[in-house]
Amino acid sequence: MRAAVLHTHAQPPSHADHPDPVSSDGYCADRVTAAPVVPLDLRAEYGIPDDMEIDLPPAYRIVGYDEVLTVLRDGETFSSAGYAMSMGEVFGHSILEMDEPEHHAYRALIQQAFTRKAMESWEADIVRPVVDDLVDNFRDRGHAELVKELLFPFPVTVIGKMIGLPDDDLPVFHRKGVELITIMADIERGYQASLWLYDYFQKIITERRADPRNDLISVLAQAELEGQQLTDDEIIAFLRLLLPAGAETTYRSSSNLMYGLLSNPDQLEALRKDRSLMPQAIEEGVRWEPPLTSIGRTAARDVEIEGVLIPKGSPVSVCMASANRDESRWENPDAFDIFRDQKQHMSFAFGPHMCLGMHLARMETSVAINAILDLPNLRLDPAAEDVHISGLAFRAPAGLPVLFD
Ligand code: HEM
Repeated sequence: MRAAVLHTHAQPPSHADHPDPVSSDGYCADRVTAAPVVPLDLRAEYGIPDDMEIDLPPAYRIVGYDEVLTVLRDGETFSSAGYAMSMGEVFGHSILEMDEPEHHAYRALIQQAFTRKAMESWEADIVRPVVDDLVDNFRDRGHAELVKELLFPFPVTVIGKMIGLPDDDLPVFHRKGVELITIMADIERGYQASLWLYDYFQKIITERRADPRNDLISVLAQAELEGQQLTDDEIIAFLRLLLPAGAETTYRSSSNLMYGLLSNPDQLEALRKDRSLMPQAIEEGVRWEPPLTSIGRTAARDVEIEGVLIPKGSPVSVCMASANRDESRWENPDAFDIFRDQKQHMSFAFGPHMCLGMHLARMETSVAINAILDLPNLRLDPAAEDVHISGLAFRAPAGLPVLFD
């Protein structure tokens, strides 16, 4: 392997080479340096010229581990309602933008679809066959591009099958989902995709209410709590969220873990030989390079954290990526080390909105990485140029070209 071709671009710079705690690069590059809570310059963030009169609220970025934990735990002070003005436009009123008590009631209904029993059947009936089919396409070839051929397509296929979509509809579901989340690039196309998915899902929900099957839509259509059921709109908002929440994240986190392993062949070999290390390898991968670097909250009242006053109404960027590399919590936090002591990280968030799909993500990642490690003598292709993890809000390697025997 040519170790020289491996870089992790745009990693959070170390304290020494980034003395200014205020960064406007949009990525959680503010390490826990001068302060764990830093003012965020929204004008610089959005590139608004100084002479343009636009009223923007004061904003803050939370970068320290303890402070990120404090914010995420306290959903009453740090509201999620701000998502309504961004993602809500295309997803509908989804769980992400709900505060208590609405959030709790809704989550209790949705959670009924994510039982241990459901997880076991998804693993055997969906995830393994999907991963095996994809690996079969290159198993005898001796080389593959793991992102394109396996890690990118497998989670979206899994979600489509979990929802209960016909196989023939999976490509169009994937395309509409991508159009939905690339709304910033083309607003009209994003809205059209949102409407298309509404009609598409509503037809299936009506069918499943009349004739339930063994799939997620049927479970959601039947779910009941204290006499309450989910409406079509509520189910559709959840289904539209699943693609970005469940597929984009899992493809990126499993690619980042595979990158960590390929760039540390001793750890790859240790895991290949002892698969019981898989859970800690998965946690380390997602700590080290979370697929999603930050999430948003809005201060619902004046609040002070670490001596910084955050006025009511301020947008707050909560940086899981920097919390995960807080030097006061982890020794040598920039290193990928599957043998480090396991501690709670922030990649799945924490508190009321902590990721609902984290057990599913871990299971999917485990199945995919195990299948890859079964390829004999797996190694990064020495001819590969400049393989690295990149991205500001979302991070992953663009490709992982590998050789095997
Ligand atoms: C490694 C993969 C994943 C990561 C890193 C991740 C990360 C996160 C984070 C940070 C949040 C909190 C968002 C916020 O409060 O602003 C979240 C929420 C959520 N995630 Fe995941 N996620 C992953 C995989 C999945 C999967 C596979 C599913 C599929 C079902 C999923 C479904 C959800 C849902 C429904 C929520 C909203 C929960 C709520 O608001 O109560 N996630 N996830």
